Amino acid sequence: MEPAVPSLADRLWNRLSLRARLLLPMAAMVVGALLLGGLALQTFSPEQFEDENAQGTRSAQRVAEALNAALAAADNPQPTLDAFAASLRPPAAIAFVPSGPDRRNVPSETYHGSVPAWFTALLQIPELGSTHPVAIRTAHVGDIVFRPDLSAEILEKWVGFLAIAGSSAALMLLAGLSAYFTTGTALRPLTHLGAGLTRMRNGVYDTPIPLAGPPEIRKSCAEANELAATLKRLSRDNRDLLRKLVAVQDDERRELARELHDEMGPLLFAIRANATALSDPEAEGPPEPGSPAHGILSATEALQQANRRVLEGLSPVYIGDLGLAVSVRALLRNAQSQAPGLRVTSRIDHRLDDLDGLLSQTTYRVIQEGVTNVLRHAKATTICVTATVNGGQIEIDVSDDGVGLPRDLTFGRGLTGMHERARALDGDLQLLREQGQTIVRCRLPLDQLIAG
Ligand SMILES: Nc1ncnc2c1ncn2[C@@H]1O[C@H](COP(=O)(O)OP(=O)(O)OP(=O)(O)O)[C@@H](O)[C@H]1O
Ligand SMILES: [Mg+2]
Repeated sequence: MEPAVPSLADRLWNRLSLRARLLLPMAAMVVGALLLGGLALQTFSPEQFEDENAQGTRSAQRVAEALNAALAAADNPQPTLDAFAASLRPPAAIAFVPSGPDRRNVPSETYHGSVPAWFTALLQIPELGSTHPVAIRTAHVGDIVFRPDLSAEILEKWVGFLAIAGSSAALMLLAGLSAYFTTGTALRPLTHLGAGLTRMRNGVYDTPIPLAGPPEIRKSCAEANELAATLKRLSRDNRDLLRKLVAVQDDERRELARELHDEMGPLLFAIRANATALSDPEAEGPPEPGSPAHGILSATEALQQANRRVLEGLSPVYIGDLGLAVSVRALLRNAQSQAPGLRVTSRIDHRLDDLDGLLSQTTYRVIQEGVTNVLRHAKATTICVTATVNGGQIEIDVSDDGVGLPRDLTFGRGLTGMHERARALDGDLQLLREQGQTIVRCRLPLDQLIAG
């Protein structure tokens, strides 16, 4: 089954940090609350305004009725009207507005104050004013006009809105700060856990992960520490096994070399002696070229040489007897004789002579396989072998100026063997290409000598 392709929203969400994931819903809630508040204001405010100003409309209606009645009853209505008009001083919500071109004193429905225009627009204030005609006899002389001043009501709603918005923002800030610090304290142990797992991947098992943070994370840290202990045990077992394997391999090689030397050596010598005896006893010196005895003799010599080469490869006799430095020099002389054009340089620390056992075998084998690989694969003009004791470890470098390692390098028996030997002694093997040099670099800790 094909894996489902994550949607854009999923991808965006996956990129968010834990803090952002906590803060984002909170911010969405605050914005949602404000939007809901705005919607409620828009829905209920017009009705509220109408209710609150209905009384004013009724009052204006009654004033107009009373005035009309008074004017109807008065003999001289004009002074009564003037006196009434003068008594309603602006800025009253109810005013008398005479008809004709002289329409003064029309109260406006505008409101003043510091409320922003967008908020007043949001309230959707309905048409609240009313106009009631005033007549003397049948002549229309003006109107009683009611224009409410909404400033106070709008300000009240604005203050309410600000209070809701302010308290939501303050709550959001508090919740945000609390989420920020809580995730901070929860994430720090996770960082330690991550660092601990990286150490484990690099083979370092001795530094425990500190147990901190909430119980769930503490438990994971404890589990990771247990895992490190198990890995450490397995790695030690693995190394011990490798070391045994390498030791058994070396023992077997030595045994094989001894057998070859003890069995084949005398037999080959006997064949040689007999071949010489088979040749014409009258003739002095070696057998005639082309004679059967000469053929047997040449084949035997070739076999003896091959036997020596195999013996050399199986078990270098020098290490035990002459020490590592001399053995390595012999190895390099041999390499030089196989490739006369090759310039061979070496620097072998004389302290390596004091090594014995697995460590000296390993050092020798790494150099031997490194040199063989240069001869076989590198097409080099120079080869440099260094083996030094430095800072509690043996540093072995076999470098050449040849073609370099292939891109699609696959380990054969040589590199695999080197690697296993190095790991068996808790060392490491690196293959490098630096400044035109192919370098096989092996590091072996010296304390393995004591431990092993
Ligand atoms: N100094 C070198 N220069 C160039 N290529 C090298 C060098 N050393 C190793 N190689 C490459 O690494 C490969 C693996 O080497 P390795 O020694 O493991 O196997 P091998 O030499 O091919 O065979 P064997 O198992 O007999 O050793 C080689 O085939 C070769 O391509
Ligand atoms: Mg090889």
